[in-house]
Amino acid sequence: MKGKSHPTNDQSLNPSGNASIRDVIDQVDSARRRFVQGSVGSAALAAAGGLSLGGLVNTVQAAPVAAGPGFPGIGFESIPAETRARNVAVHGGSATAVVDRVTVPAGYTAELFVAWGDPIMPGGLPFSGTASETAAEQAKQYGMHTDGMHFFPFNGTDGKPSSERGLLVANNEYTHEDILFTDGQVGAGYTLAKTRKSQAAHGVSVVEARRVGGKWRVAKTSLYGRRITSNTPMRIAGPAAGHALMRTREFVITDAASIATGNMTDGTTCFGTVNNCAHGITPWGTYLACEENWNGNFGGTGAVDTSATTEIGKLNLRYGVSAGGFGYRWHTTDARWDVTTNPNEPHLFGWVVEIDPFDPKSVPVKRTALGRFKHESAQYVVDKNGDVAFYMGDDERNEYIYKFVCAGKFNPTNKAANRNLLDSGTLYVARFDGSLVGEWLALVPGTVGKDGVALRNNPNFAGANDAEVQAKILIKTRMAADAVGATMMDRPEWTGARPRIGGFSEIEVYCTLTNNNRRGTNTPSVNQIDGSTGAGAARPPVDAANPRADNVYGHIIRWRESGQSVRATSFAWDIFAQAGDTATAKTARPTNDYKGNIVDVPAGSADFGAPDGLWFDYFGRLWVQTDQVGDGSGDWINIGANCMVCADPNTGEMRRFLTGPNKCEVTGVTMTPDGKTLFVGVQHPGEDAVAANPTQFSNWPQGQWSVASDGVTPLAAGRPRSGVVVITKNDGGVIGS
Ligand code: FEO
Ligand code: CA
Ligand code: CA
Ligand code: CA
Repeated sequence: MKGKSHPTNDQSLNPSGNASIRDVIDQVDSARRRFVQGSVGSAALAAAGGLSLGGLVNTVQAAPVAAGPGFPGIGFESIPAETRARNVAVHGGSATAVVDRVTVPAGYTAELFVAWGDPIMPGGLPFSGTASETAAEQAKQYGMHTDGMHFFPFNGTDGKPSSERGLLVANNEYTHEDILFTDGQVGAGYTLAKTRKSQAAHGVSVVEARRVGGKWRVAKTSLYGRRITSNTPMRIAGPAAGHALMRTREFVITDAASIATGNMTDGTTCFGTVNNCAHGITPWGTYLACEENWNGNFGGTGAVDTSATTEIGKLNLRYGVSAGGFGYRWHTTDARWDVTTNPNEPHLFGWVVEIDPFDPKSVPVKRTALGRFKHESAQYVVDKNGDVAFYMGDDERNEYIYKFVCAGKFNPTNKAANRNLLDSGTLYVARFDGSLVGEWLALVPGTVGKDGVALRNNPNFAGANDAEVQAKILIKTRMAADAVGATMMDRPEWTGARPRIGGFSEIEVYCTLTNNNRRGTNTPSVNQIDGSTGAGAARPPVDAANPRADNVYGHIIRWRESGQSVRATSFAWDIFAQAGDTATAKTARPTNDYKGNIVDVPAGSADFGAPDGLWFDYFGRLWVQTDQVGDGSGDWINIGANCMVCADPNTGEMRRFLTGPNKCEVTGVTMTPDGKTLFVGVQHPGEDAVAANPTQFSNWPQGQWSVASDGVTPLAAGRPRSGVVVITKNDGGVIGS
C-alpha cells in the first residue's frame, strides 16, 4: 500500500515498526491513500491518548505534536472553534455572529499591525474613520481587503537577513464599496472620483515594518512605502507582449478623466493590476502579485460579445467577462474598463505581475509566459539542478493547476542575471490520473490535443508562426488546457512547497481545493475541448483527485515531482486532507463526505472547511487558512469562524492556531526569518454590511484594540477594516514551537 501510494518514494516509511497515525487512517480508508512519510512514535501516540481504528480518543490536548523528518513539531494547544453557540455561552455575544476578535493560543500575543487606510508613505494621512479620504489620499494609505503577503527582510547590521526590519508587501485584493465610501457606492451618485478611489484601494501595498522596543510599527513615512494601484504604469513582457489581442485603446489617465488619445497601444504597456489575491515570491527577491477575479472589474455600457463563435466572444465567455461584471461601476465613468468600447483591455489582466519591492521606482512587469487565468498564487521551487518552477492554481470551479518551468537556471550569486527568467520557459497544466500518478501537459504549439490536433493547428491558436501560436496559447491559457485534457479541479487556491530540510528531499507541492458546488450535482458536463465552455459552467462528475460530489468543505491535494526535478513531466499525487465537519448533521450525501478526514486530537478539534491560504514556514510547519462564510451559520455551525490551522505534513495532524472576527476571511501569512514574528491577514471583517450601517456585522479591529499600530493613535471607529495582525510568542520563541 505504501509503495503504491507513492511509487517514487523510496524512503524508509516507518523504521520503528510502530503504527503511524497515517497507517491507521489508510487502513480504515484504503480508498484515500496518501503519501506515508515519517511516522509518529509509540511514545507520542501514547501521550496523545492512544489510537483505535475508530479514530483518536481520550486525548490530552496539551501533548505536543511530535517532530518528524522535515517537521519540527507543534507545541501549542488547539484553540476552540469560535462558533455562534460559543459566542453566546462564553463571550456573552450574539447568537447570529461569532466573536468579533482574533484569538490565538495561550502563550501568544496578537496585535494589530496595519489596517486599511493607515498611512504608509510620506504625506499619508491617518485613517479618517468615515472613509472621507479622496483617491489621492487613499493612494498613500494601506489598500483595502488585504490578501497574500510576504516579509522581505532588510540586511541586518551583521549582514544577515534582519528579523527587526523589512518590507511587508501585501496584495489588496478587492474593495467593498459600501464601506469604502462614506455614502456607499451610489449614495449621492456615482462619479469618477469614486472610481478613482476604488482603483486606488486595489493593488499592492509596500509597507516598511520595524521592530522598535519590542513592538512592531509601520514606518509611516518610509521612502520604501509604495502603493501600486489599478492605474500604475506597467510593462508587459514575455511571448504575448505586443500581440494584436494585447493592443488596446490608449488613454492618458488623470484624477479628472481617462482621456482617449485616439491611438492604440503597441501591446507592451498597460495600467495597473486588480484583484490581486494570493502571491508569490521569486528566489531572486521579487514579489509576484497574481490577478484573480479581474473579470469582475470590467463592465459594458452597451453590448458585450459573449458569443461562442467570435474570438473575443469566446474569450469573454471562457473568462467570465460580462456587461454587468461583479457590480463595480468603473466602466460607467472610466472608458478604459468599458468592454463595449475597449474590448481588448481584459486581455491585459489575468497575469502574474513581478514587482521589485526594494526599488520604489521600478516598473511592475506582467509576465505573460506564466499564462493568463484567474491566478491565485505562484509558489516557486528551485531544485537540486538549479532549475526553477512556479506552481499555480486557477481559482474557479473546474479550472486547472499549472506549473511554469523557466528555460534558464537560477543564479544565486547574481540577482541581475535572473532579471528576465520569467520571460522564457514552458507552461504546463496538470492531469491527475486515477492511479495516483499524473502528467504535466506542455502548453506549446506542438502538443497534440484530445481531438488529435496539434495546438498550432487548432483554430483557437492559429497564427502566422509558432511565436504567434504561443502568444495565443498564453492569452487563452484556459482554452489550451481544455484542448489537452487537463483535470478539472475543485477551485485551486494557494500552492505551497514543502521545504527540503531535515532529511526531507522530495519536491512536494500542496494545493488547496477550496470547494465546488457544481461537481456531481447535475447532468454531467465538462469543459469542452474547443474552449467554448462558459467560466465555471461545467458540472463534472467526481474523479480520483476530486472525489466528493457537492464538495462543500474542500480538500488539499499534493504531488511529488518524478526524479526530484521541477522539469519532470510526471508526478505522483495523493489527497493530504479532506476538510469537513466531524459533527455535521448533513445527510443529503453520504455522511462521510461532509465529515472529512482531518487528523486531530480529539477528533473534530481542528475541523475546518474551505481551505484557501496555504504556506510552509521556514521550519517545515504547514499553515492553512480558510475562506468560508465567516459568521458560523449554516454549514459552518460547528466549525464557526474562519481560522488558521497548523499541520504536520508527515502525519496530517492539525491544530487550530487562530480564529478571525465575524464575517472575515483569514488570508495572508508570512514571518520574519527567525520565525519569531508571524503576520496574518484578516480580510473583509463584517462582509455584507450596507453603507447605512457599516458596523452591522463587525467593528474590528477597533472592537478588539483601542490604539493603532503606532501604539498611540486611537483607532477610529465607524467601519470595519481589513488588516494585518502581528503575532509573537510570549516567551520569544519560534511561532508554532
Ligand atoms: Fe481570492 Fe481564490 O481567493
Ligand atoms: Ca484566496
Ligand atoms: Ca477563496
Ligand atoms: Ca472571502
